[in-house]
Amino acid sequence: MIVTTTELFKQAYGKYAVGAYNINNLEQTIGLFRGNLGKHQSNSEPEDPTKAAPFIIQISRGARDYSDKRFLEAMIRTAENVFPEAIFAVHLDHGTEEVCYDCIDSGFYSSVMIDASHCPFEENIAITRRVVDRAHEKGIVVEAELGQLGGVEEDIVGSVKLTDPDQAAEFIERSGCDSLAVAIGTSHGAFKFSGSQSLHFDCLEKIQQAVPANFPLVMHGSSSVPQEWVQRINNAGGAMKNACGVNEEEYIRAAKLGVCKINIDTDGRLVWCATHREFFRDHPDQFDLRPPGKLFMANYAEYIQHKNSKLGSLGQLESVREALK
Ligand code: G3H
Ligand code: 13P
Ligand code: ZN
Repeated sequence: MIVTTTELFKQAYGKYAVGAYNINNLEQTIGLFRGNLGKHQSNSEPEDPTKAAPFIIQISRGARDYSDKRFLEAMIRTAENVFPEAIFAVHLDHGTEEVCYDCIDSGFYSSVMIDASHCPFEENIAITRRVVDRAHEKGIVVEAELGQLGGVEEDIVGSVKLTDPDQAAEFIERSGCDSLAVAIGTSHGAFKFSGSQSLHFDCLEKIQQAVPANFPLVMHGSSSVPQEWVQRINNAGGAMKNACGVNEEEYIRAAKLGVCKINIDTDGRLVWCATHREFFRDHPDQFDLRPPGKLFMANYAEYIQHKNSKLGSLGQLESVREALK
Protein backbone atom coordinates (compact mmCIF):
# COMPACT_ATOMS: atom_id res chain seq x y z
CA MET A 1 0.00 0.00 0.00
CA ILE A 2 1.38 3.38 -0.99
CA VAL A 3 1.00 6.05 1.70
CA THR A 4 2.45 9.52 2.21
CA THR A 5 5.64 10.01 4.17
CA THR A 6 3.62 12.16 6.60
CA GLU A 7 1.49 9.14 7.53
CA LEU A 8 4.66 7.17 8.26
CA PHE A 9 6.28 10.02 10.20
CA LYS A 10 3.28 10.38 12.52
CA GLN A 11 3.95 6.86 13.80
CA ALA A 12 7.72 7.17 13.88
CA TYR A 13 8.25 10.61 15.43
CA GLY A 14 10.62 10.53 18.40
CA LYS A 15 10.79 6.72 18.42
CA TYR A 16 12.47 5.53 15.23
CA ALA A 17 13.40 6.67 11.73
CA VAL A 18 11.95 5.31 8.51
CA GLY A 19 14.57 4.11 6.03
CA ALA A 20 14.47 5.92 2.68
CA TYR A 21 16.20 3.76 0.11
CA ASN A 22 17.03 4.72 -3.50
CA ILE A 23 16.25 2.32 -6.31
CA ASN A 24 17.44 2.17 -9.90
CA ASN A 25 16.66 -1.32 -11.12
CA LEU A 26 14.65 -4.50 -10.65
CA GLU A 27 17.03 -6.36 -8.34
CA GLN A 28 17.24 -3.41 -5.95
CA THR A 29 13.46 -3.13 -5.94
CA ILE A 30 12.89 -6.80 -5.19
CA GLY A 31 15.63 -6.89 -2.53
CA LEU A 32 14.13 -3.79 -0.92
CA PHE A 33 10.61 -5.21 -0.70
CA ARG A 34 11.82 -8.58 0.54
CA GLY A 35 14.04 -6.94 3.13
CA ASN A 36 11.27 -4.75 4.47
CA LEU A 37 8.98 -7.76 4.84
CA GLY A 38 11.55 -9.88 6.66
CA LYS A 39 12.07 -12.15 3.64
CA HIS A 40 15.43 -13.23 2.19
CA GLN A 41 15.71 -15.62 -0.72
CA SER A 42 12.31 -15.55 -2.42
CA ASN A 43 9.21 -13.43 -2.89
CA SER A 44 6.94 -16.22 -1.69
CA GLU A 45 8.53 -16.67 1.75
CA PRO A 46 6.04 -15.73 4.47
CA GLU A 47 6.35 -12.26 5.95
CA ASP A 48 8.24 -12.17 9.25
CA PRO A 49 6.43 -9.51 11.34
CA THR A 50 9.33 -9.30 13.78
CA LYS A 51 11.54 -8.11 10.92
CA ALA A 52 9.05 -6.20 8.79
CA ALA A 53 9.22 -2.41 8.50
CA PRO A 54 7.53 0.54 6.83
CA PHE A 55 9.84 2.19 4.29
CA ILE A 56 10.27 4.88 1.66
CA ILE A 57 11.30 4.17 -1.93
CA GLN A 58 13.30 7.08 -3.32
CA ILE A 59 13.70 7.86 -6.96
CA SER A 60 16.35 10.37 -7.97
CA ARG A 61 16.39 12.31 -11.23
CA GLY A 62 19.36 10.17 -12.22
CA ALA A 63 17.31 7.01 -11.63
CA ARG A 64 14.41 8.40 -13.70
CA ASP A 65 16.80 9.00 -16.60
CA TYR A 66 18.77 5.76 -16.21
CA SER A 67 16.00 3.51 -17.45
CA ASP A 68 12.95 5.67 -18.09
CA LYS A 69 10.68 6.94 -15.34
CA ARG A 70 7.87 4.73 -16.71
CA PHE A 71 9.90 1.57 -16.09
CA LEU A 72 10.39 2.57 -12.45
CA GLU A 73 6.71 3.28 -11.99
CA ALA A 74 5.70 -0.02 -13.62
CA MET A 75 8.21 -1.91 -11.47
CA ILE A 76 6.96 -0.38 -8.23
CA ARG A 77 3.31 -0.94 -9.18
CA THR A 78 4.17 -4.59 -9.85
CA ALA A 79 6.01 -4.86 -6.54
CA GLU A 80 2.90 -3.49 -4.83
CA ASN A 81 0.93 -6.40 -6.33
CA VAL A 82 3.56 -9.04 -5.61
CA PHE A 83 4.04 -7.81 -2.01
CA PRO A 84 0.55 -6.64 -0.92
CA GLU A 85 1.63 -6.61 2.76
CA ALA A 86 4.14 -3.79 2.20
CA ILE A 87 3.41 -0.25 3.42
CA PHE A 88 5.61 2.37 1.80
CA ALA A 89 5.84 5.87 0.37
CA VAL A 90 7.05 6.67 -3.15
CA HIS A 91 9.26 9.73 -2.98
CA LEU A 92 11.10 11.92 -5.50
CA ASP A 93 14.65 12.49 -4.22
CA HIS A 94 16.32 15.90 -4.84
CA GLY A 95 13.75 17.24 -7.30
CA THR A 96 13.92 20.45 -9.26
CA GLU A 97 10.72 22.49 -9.53
CA GLU A 98 10.04 21.11 -13.00
CA VAL A 99 10.58 17.46 -12.03
CA CYS A 100 8.46 17.94 -8.88
CA TYR A 101 5.54 19.10 -11.07
CA ASP A 102 6.00 16.13 -13.36
CA CYS A 103 5.84 13.76 -10.36
CA ILE A 104 2.88 15.58 -8.79
CA ASP A 105 0.96 15.40 -12.08
CA SER A 106 1.83 11.71 -12.60
CA GLY A 107 -0.50 10.66 -9.78
CA PHE A 108 2.07 8.06 -8.73
CA TYR A 109 4.37 9.72 -6.21
CA SER A 110 3.02 10.24 -2.69
CA SER A 111 5.82 12.59 -1.70
CA VAL A 112 8.29 14.86 -3.48
CA MET A 113 11.45 16.61 -2.40
CA ILE A 114 12.09 20.08 -3.76
CA ASP A 115 15.75 20.77 -3.34
CA ALA A 116 16.41 24.47 -3.70
CA SER A 117 18.94 24.42 -0.87
CA HIS A 118 21.62 25.89 -3.15
CA CYS A 119 19.44 29.01 -3.72
CA PRO A 120 19.42 32.06 -1.44
CA PHE A 121 17.01 31.77 1.54
CA GLU A 122 14.17 33.85 0.04
CA GLU A 123 14.34 32.05 -3.29
CA ASN A 124 14.37 28.65 -1.56
CA ILE A 125 11.20 29.66 0.30
CA ALA A 126 9.48 30.97 -2.85
CA ILE A 127 10.27 27.87 -4.92
CA THR A 128 9.29 25.51 -2.10
CA ARG A 129 6.01 27.40 -1.53
CA ARG A 130 5.03 27.02 -5.21
CA VAL A 131 5.71 23.27 -5.11
CA VAL A 132 3.87 22.87 -1.80
CA ASP A 133 0.77 24.65 -3.12
CA ARG A 134 0.63 22.45 -6.19
CA ALA A 135 1.40 19.21 -4.29
CA HIS A 136 -1.09 19.81 -1.49
CA GLU A 137 -3.90 20.30 -4.01
CA LYS A 138 -3.38 16.64 -4.89
CA GLY A 139 -2.75 15.27 -1.39
CA ILE A 140 0.99 14.91 -2.01
CA VAL A 141 3.44 15.96 0.69
CA VAL A 142 6.68 17.91 0.27
CA GLU A 143 10.17 17.62 1.74
CA ALA A 144 12.38 20.69 1.40
CA GLU A 145 16.02 21.29 2.32
CA LEU A 146 17.72 24.09 4.21
CA GLY A 147 21.48 24.26 4.63
CA GLN A 148 24.03 22.50 2.47
CA LEU A 149 25.54 19.06 2.81
CA GLY A 150 29.07 18.44 1.59
CA GLY A 151 29.74 16.24 -1.44
CA VAL A 152 27.64 15.97 -4.56
CA GLU A 153 23.84 16.18 -4.68
CA GLU A 154 22.75 15.03 -8.11
CA ASP A 155 24.68 17.45 -10.35
CA ILE A 156 25.38 20.10 -7.70
CA VAL A 157 28.68 20.12 -5.81
CA GLY A 158 28.08 21.61 -2.38
CA SER A 159 30.20 23.21 0.28
CA VAL A 160 29.00 22.51 3.82
CA LYS A 161 26.61 24.96 5.48
CA LEU A 162 24.92 23.65 8.61
CA THR A 163 21.21 24.43 8.94
CA ASP A 164 20.50 27.53 11.02
CA PRO A 165 17.83 26.60 13.63
CA ASP A 166 16.11 30.01 13.57
CA GLN A 167 16.01 30.06 9.79
CA ALA A 168 14.55 26.52 9.90
CA ALA A 169 11.55 27.68 11.92
CA GLU A 170 10.90 30.63 9.60
CA PHE A 171 11.42 28.47 6.52
CA ILE A 172 8.87 25.88 7.64
CA GLU A 173 6.27 28.50 8.47
CA ARG A 174 6.62 30.46 5.24
CA SER A 175 7.16 27.58 2.80
CA GLY A 176 4.48 25.27 4.22
CA CYS A 177 6.73 22.21 3.69
CA ASP A 178 5.76 18.94 5.43
CA SER A 179 9.27 17.83 6.38
CA LEU A 180 12.70 19.43 6.31
CA ALA A 181 16.06 17.98 5.35
CA VAL A 182 18.74 19.48 7.56
CA ALA A 183 22.51 19.72 7.18
CA ILE A 184 24.07 18.49 10.42
CA GLY A 185 27.39 17.09 9.24
CA THR A 186 26.51 14.35 6.78
CA SER A 187 27.38 14.32 3.08
CA HIS A 188 26.48 12.16 0.10
CA GLY A 189 28.61 9.30 -1.14
CA ALA A 190 31.19 6.93 0.37
CA PHE A 191 33.74 9.46 1.68
CA LYS A 192 31.98 11.45 4.38
CA PHE A 193 34.56 11.88 7.12
CA SER A 194 38.34 11.97 7.18
CA GLY A 195 38.67 11.25 10.90
CA SER A 196 36.41 10.45 13.80
CA GLN A 197 33.89 13.27 13.23
CA SER A 198 30.27 12.65 14.03
CA LEU A 199 26.93 14.34 13.52
CA HIS A 200 26.37 17.81 14.98
CA PHE A 201 23.82 16.80 17.63
CA ASP A 202 24.04 20.23 19.25
CA CYS A 203 22.78 21.78 16.03
CA LEU A 204 20.06 19.10 15.62
CA GLU A 205 18.87 19.70 19.17
CA LYS A 206 18.56 23.43 18.51
CA ILE A 207 16.66 22.78 15.29
CA GLN A 208 14.22 20.46 17.08
CA GLN A 209 13.58 23.09 19.74
CA ALA A 210 13.07 25.86 17.17
CA VAL A 211 10.65 24.12 14.78
CA PRO A 212 6.97 23.32 15.53
CA ALA A 213 6.34 20.38 17.89
CA ASN A 214 6.63 16.98 16.22
CA PHE A 215 7.80 18.45 12.93
CA PRO A 216 9.57 15.70 10.94
CA LEU A 217 13.24 16.25 10.11
CA VAL A 218 15.19 14.37 7.44
CA MET A 219 18.82 13.31 7.25
CA HIS A 220 20.40 12.94 3.82
CA GLY A 221 23.81 11.41 3.20
CA SER A 222 23.32 8.89 5.98
CA SER A 223 24.91 5.71 4.64
CA SER A 224 27.20 4.09 7.17
CA VAL A 225 29.61 2.80 4.50
CA PRO A 226 30.23 -0.43 6.46
CA GLN A 227 33.91 -1.33 6.56
CA GLU A 228 32.99 -4.97 6.08
CA TRP A 229 31.54 -4.22 2.63
CA VAL A 230 34.37 -1.85 1.73
CA GLN A 231 36.88 -4.58 2.64
CA ARG A 232 34.99 -7.11 0.56
CA ILE A 233 35.07 -4.74 -2.43
CA ASN A 234 38.78 -4.09 -1.99
CA ASN A 235 39.55 -7.80 -1.53
CA ALA A 236 37.79 -8.51 -4.78
CA GLY A 237 39.76 -6.00 -6.85
CA GLY A 238 38.18 -2.69 -5.80
CA ALA A 239 40.09 0.42 -4.78
CA MET A 240 38.00 2.29 -2.23
CA LYS A 241 40.58 3.90 0.02
CA ASN A 242 39.47 5.82 3.12
CA ALA A 243 35.75 5.25 2.55
CA CYS A 244 33.88 6.26 5.70
CA GLY A 245 30.25 6.86 6.67
CA VAL A 246 27.90 7.76 9.50
CA ASN A 247 28.14 5.76 12.73
CA GLU A 248 25.00 3.57 12.69
CA GLU A 249 24.65 3.90 16.45
CA GLU A 250 23.85 7.59 15.89
CA TYR A 251 20.65 6.91 13.90
CA ILE A 252 18.49 6.30 16.97
CA ARG A 253 19.93 9.31 18.77
CA ALA A 254 18.95 11.43 15.74
CA ALA A 255 15.50 9.80 15.61
CA LYS A 256 14.87 10.77 19.22
CA LEU A 257 15.63 14.38 18.24
CA GLY A 258 12.94 14.41 15.53
CA VAL A 259 14.66 12.81 12.54
CA CYS A 260 11.96 10.64 10.95
CA LYS A 261 13.56 9.84 7.57
CA ILE A 262 17.10 8.62 7.04
CA ASN A 263 18.36 8.45 3.43
CA ILE A 264 20.48 5.51 2.34
CA ASP A 265 21.73 5.04 -1.21
CA THR A 266 25.50 4.51 -1.13
CA ASP A 267 25.30 1.46 1.19
CA GLY A 268 23.05 -0.33 -1.32
CA ARG A 269 25.59 0.39 -4.05
CA LEU A 270 28.38 -1.08 -1.89
CA VAL A 271 26.37 -4.29 -1.35
CA TRP A 272 25.78 -4.48 -5.11
CA CYS A 273 29.43 -3.85 -5.94
CA ALA A 274 30.86 -6.35 -3.42
CA THR A 275 28.40 -9.07 -4.42
CA HIS A 276 29.16 -8.77 -8.13
CA ARG A 277 32.94 -8.34 -7.74
CA GLU A 278 33.17 -11.41 -5.49
CA PHE A 279 30.95 -13.47 -7.74
CA PHE A 280 32.99 -12.86 -10.89
CA ARG A 281 36.30 -13.19 -9.01
CA ASP A 282 35.21 -16.60 -7.72
CA HIS A 283 33.55 -17.74 -10.96
CA PRO A 284 35.74 -16.38 -13.77
CA ASP A 285 34.16 -18.79 -16.24
CA GLN A 286 30.64 -17.42 -15.73
CA PHE A 287 28.89 -14.66 -17.61
CA ASP A 288 25.23 -15.15 -16.71
CA LEU A 289 23.71 -12.13 -14.96
CA ARG A 290 21.17 -14.11 -12.98
CA PRO A 291 23.35 -15.96 -10.41
CA PRO A 292 24.96 -12.75 -9.07
CA GLY A 293 21.60 -10.98 -9.38
CA LYS A 294 19.99 -13.62 -7.18
CA LEU A 295 22.79 -13.34 -4.64
CA PHE A 296 22.51 -9.56 -4.63
CA MET A 297 18.75 -9.62 -3.97
CA ALA A 298 19.31 -11.90 -0.95
CA ASN A 299 22.29 -9.88 0.33
CA TYR A 300 20.40 -6.63 -0.10
CA ALA A 301 17.30 -7.94 1.67
CA GLU A 302 19.47 -8.99 4.59
CA TYR A 303 21.28 -5.66 4.61
CA ILE A 304 17.98 -3.74 4.67
CA GLN A 305 16.93 -5.70 7.77
CA HIS A 306 20.22 -4.92 9.45
CA LYS A 307 19.84 -1.23 8.57
CA ASN A 308 16.24 -1.13 9.80
CA SER A 309 17.37 -2.65 13.10
CA LYS A 310 19.71 0.34 13.53
CA LEU A 311 17.00 2.83 12.50
CA GLY A 312 14.59 1.25 14.98
CA SER A 313 11.97 0.56 12.27
CA LEU A 314 12.49 -3.22 12.31
CA GLY A 315 9.32 -4.93 13.50
CA GLN A 316 7.20 -1.74 13.25
CA LEU A 317 5.13 -2.67 10.19
CA GLU A 318 2.22 -4.17 12.13
CA SER A 319 1.86 -1.13 14.38
CA VAL A 320 1.78 1.12 11.31
CA ARG A 321 -0.83 -1.14 9.68
CA GLU A 322 -2.98 -0.93 12.83
CA ALA A 323 -2.65 2.86 13.01
CA LEU A 324 -3.67 3.29 9.38
CA LYS A 325 -6.91 1.28 9.79
O1 G3H B 1 21.48 12.21 -3.23
C1 G3H B 1 21.81 11.52 -4.16
C2 G3H B 1 21.35 10.11 -4.22
O2 G3H B 1 22.29 9.26 -3.66
C3 G3H B 1 20.97 9.76 -5.62
O3 G3H B 1 22.09 9.54 -6.39
O4 G3H B 1 21.65 11.00 -8.36
O5 G3H B 1 23.33 9.15 -8.48
O6 G3H B 1 20.88 8.65 -8.40
P1 G3H B 1 21.98 9.60 -8.01
P1 13P C 1 24.15 8.40 0.93
O1 13P C 1 25.03 8.78 -0.22
O2 13P C 1 24.82 8.59 2.23
O3 13P C 1 23.60 7.02 0.79
O4 13P C 1 22.88 9.42 0.93
C1 13P C 1 21.78 9.20 0.07
C2 13P C 1 20.87 10.35 0.02
O5 13P C 1 20.91 11.27 0.80
C3 13P C 1 19.87 10.34 -1.05
O6 13P C 1 19.14 11.52 -1.09
ZN1 ZN D 1 20.25 13.25 -0.57
